[in-house]
Amino acid sequence: MNRLIALCAVGAEKILGNELKLLGYKLAGNAPGRVFFDGDDDSLFRANLCLRTADRVYLEMARYHAEDFDQLFDGVYSVNWQDFLKKDSRVVVDKVRTYKSVLNSEHAIQGIILKAIYKKLGDVWNMLTLPESGEESDVRVFISEDEVQVCLDLSGLPLHKRGYRTNGGVAPLRETTASVMLQLMLWRRKTPLHDPFCGSGTLPIEACLYAHNVAPGFGRRFALENLPIFNADRAREIRFAEAEKIRTDVECRITGTDIDPGAIERARMNAEHACVMAGRALQMIGSDARIPRPEFDVADFKDLHAPFERGLLICNPPYGERLGEEADAQALYRDMQCFFEDFKGWELGVITANKKFQECIKHYATTLKDLKAGNLDTTFYMYNGTEKEKNFSNAKKPYEKRYWGSKSERRRNESREKNSRGGYGKSERF
Ligand SMILES: C[S@@+](CC[C@H](N)C(=O)[O-])C[C@H]1O[C@@H](n2cnc3c(N)ncnc32)[C@H](O)[C@@H]1O
Repeated sequence: MNRLIALCAVGAEKILGNELKLLGYKLAGNAPGRVFFDGDDDSLFRANLCLRTADRVYLEMARYHAEDFDQLFDGVYSVNWQDFLKKDSRVVVDKVRTYKSVLNSEHAIQGIILKAIYKKLGDVWNMLTLPESGEESDVRVFISEDEVQVCLDLSGLPLHKRGYRTNGGVAPLRETTASVMLQLMLWRRKTPLHDPFCGSGTLPIEACLYAHNVAPGFGRRFALENLPIFNADRAREIRFAEAEKIRTDVECRITGTDIDPGAIERARMNAEHACVMAGRALQMIGSDARIPRPEFDVADFKDLHAPFERGLLICNPPYGERLGEEADAQALYRDMQCFFEDFKGWELGVITANKKFQECIKHYATTLKDLKAGNLDTTFYMYNGTEKEKNFSNAKKPYEKRYWGSKSERRRNESREKNSRGGYGKSERF
């Protein structure tokens, strides 16, 4: 068994924990932005390939108590680094986090850790200097109340870089954050989903991959693949097994609109890449099935109207990062009151870093979740359809509306929805 650590946005630990449990791993606690779990040797590759809400996966190399630099050095030196690194590996201690510990000089800790790793490798391989000419291997250290945890990065590029988004445009959402939002809304594929500020399409694309059970890492490599512990044959079998789990028979209605035609072009292109990635995985198992692409269209959100009785609106509208844009963002949030009328009965999930959001939209969220990814402090505001109806008196007068599905399609879908499941489908699971 290996002890692994998955990193996530601060606030998303529970969601990531649930995902790990669904993958069959045993949880071993958590800390802000980190979830610990135990997994077999396959989990090193499989967790990287399958996790939707994790930013990185680390392998724990050592955990011990240290209050001085000698203890810190000895703990790192005791690890059999020669089994995990190559002779030409270039080791980088990329981050040190300390909390309430005697050892707290990050720079000095970095130096000691690096020295101990190279000393061990030099002693075992009988080399005075190591070439460091090969691939970079990142080590991260957490010291909390004098308990040291030394970890080896198995992911390389952060896991939100799935490989399908070649052009994110302005302020794209992290793919992992989009997945956390879908999980927080308990979205299931049978509920129509629409992103009215879709930008480069991240939310609809992540929804599409989730709905069809496509592992998000099919289109990329991981740092693990450069390490001597990597088992290429097993990785091929794991890819194969995950490809067999792709669902091509599901029906879902995933759409996105944006006022910017350039954004819609990017969204279509990124969705194409994501679905081609899924298609390649299917080809591996001899299937020529195709994953339906989410649909994207140019539209101002104020012109939209629900084409179904029930559904989920999910988005990250502009939040006015730059000076002077704040007032525009707040005016846009005030206009978003129209959703409570034009998408009556729909759930709504909005992520923003703008603290005035609720004040402007004039509706209190049913649930709130603070999420901190990187340096960005955001809040995810979740409204369930019934709550919205209670607050209906605050809604804005509607504009002239247009459907983003044709009227006949809307009627057809509504009757199919009623007849096929007679409900909202929230309790449905894959
Ligand atoms: C923060 S970005 C969304 C990023 C997106 N989630 C992604 O991952 O790329 C906000 C988007 O809202 C769009 N937008 C601004 N005003 C709009 C409006 N009135 N109607 C529809 N979209 C609008 C912008 O064009 C921009 O693409």
